Amino acid sequence: MTRRELPLRLAATAALAARWTEPALAQRALVAGDVPADTVWLNANENPEGPCPAALEAMAAVLGRVGRYHYQHQREFLSAVARSEGLEPEQVLIGAGSSEILQTAVYAFTAPDRPLISPEPTFELPAGIARALGHPVIAVPLTERYTADVERLVAEAGRAGGGLIYLCNPNNPTSTITVKSELAWLVENLPPRTVLLVDEAYIHFSDDPELESAIGYACQGREVIVARTFSKIYGLAGLRVGFGCARPDLIARLGALRSNVVSWVSARAVMASLGQLPDLLVERRRRVAAVRSGLCRWLAERGFSYLEPHANFVMIDLGRNVREVIPELVRRGVVPGRPFPPLRTFLRVSLGTPAEMETFRRVFSEVMAA
Ligand SMILES: Cc1ncc(COP(=O)(O)O)c(C=O)c1O
Repeated sequence: MTRRELPLRLAATAALAARWTEPALAQRALVAGDVPADTVWLNANENPEGPCPAALEAMAAVLGRVGRYHYQHQREFLSAVARSEGLEPEQVLIGAGSSEILQTAVYAFTAPDRPLISPEPTFELPAGIARALGHPVIAVPLTERYTADVERLVAEAGRAGGGLIYLCNPNNPTSTITVKSELAWLVENLPPRTVLLVDEAYIHFSDDPELESAIGYACQGREVIVARTFSKIYGLAGLRVGFGCARPDLIARLGALRSNVVSWVSARAVMASLGQLPDLLVERRRRVAAVRSGLCRWLAERGFSYLEPHANFVMIDLGRNVREVIPELVRRGVVPGRPFPPLRTFLRVSLGTPAEMETFRRVFSEVMAA
């Protein structure tokens, strides 16, 4: 396929994917196939570093043994993940990516009379699943600071007589955070029959003291479920591993909706990665932060505004319709995030390697100058 044909191919596949869930679009399952080899993919917030060497070694060591199910090792895996957060195994559920944790939470805690209440824009998977189930979705616009409006989330849950509030912190696609005082207020003010689902897929990318994990609230026995993933900073997206943390009775309700375990190869890679903590996270966070501040500085010097980022992606305000800009970037070999209405002028750019960001800067300059 030529570079000229790539936008057409993406559009065609996006049309197909639209019949699936929104995340199918966001995750770009469409990347498979014969796109130019040097295409720079800055669209799915992955970590370009990929697996750490210990994870690669651990996978290679068990590949010859996958003829067995290895169910007997799942407990050891669960315990290792729980231990990494100072939790008991009963407080943790492993999923095929954090997507599966989000999915089970929507299945368990939404109903025809119990909506999902979700900021907009945010990660669409929970809303997509609720809609597919025929359960109501209440979309709450972001505040003028592009953060979740916690007061309105609570008010909507109260008005509906309960529901599942989804909070992505840091938020995808805005890279903004809900600060700890607002998170505390949200937890304190959850209406009856309401569960709070906090998605912390990107929490490792920030050391902002205003950003706090909600795992502490889950440990206090609150109506809080926290979703985490190994897809982002750990660089293991293709292995499909995430986990949820909550009170044991909430975990049991989610667990009843799972029919499977993650592959033993994936489990070994995760355990090997956990063996590299804390250095693995500290160093990766530092490297991503360096790329992020480099991009922000470059944008600021050229007069582009962006939302202060806390994750491994940056939301740039182009001052013009992003739908006109994306195909031009793609045509020149850089695939950014898709549009995130209603933020029509914003372009989401995932952070790649320094070399990939160099290409992005060149191509972005060309397109914006045209
Ligand atoms: C906020 C957020 N949550 C969850 C996911 C799903 O990740 P995974 O299922 O790979 O853990 C993503 C993926 O992009 C995401 O952006």
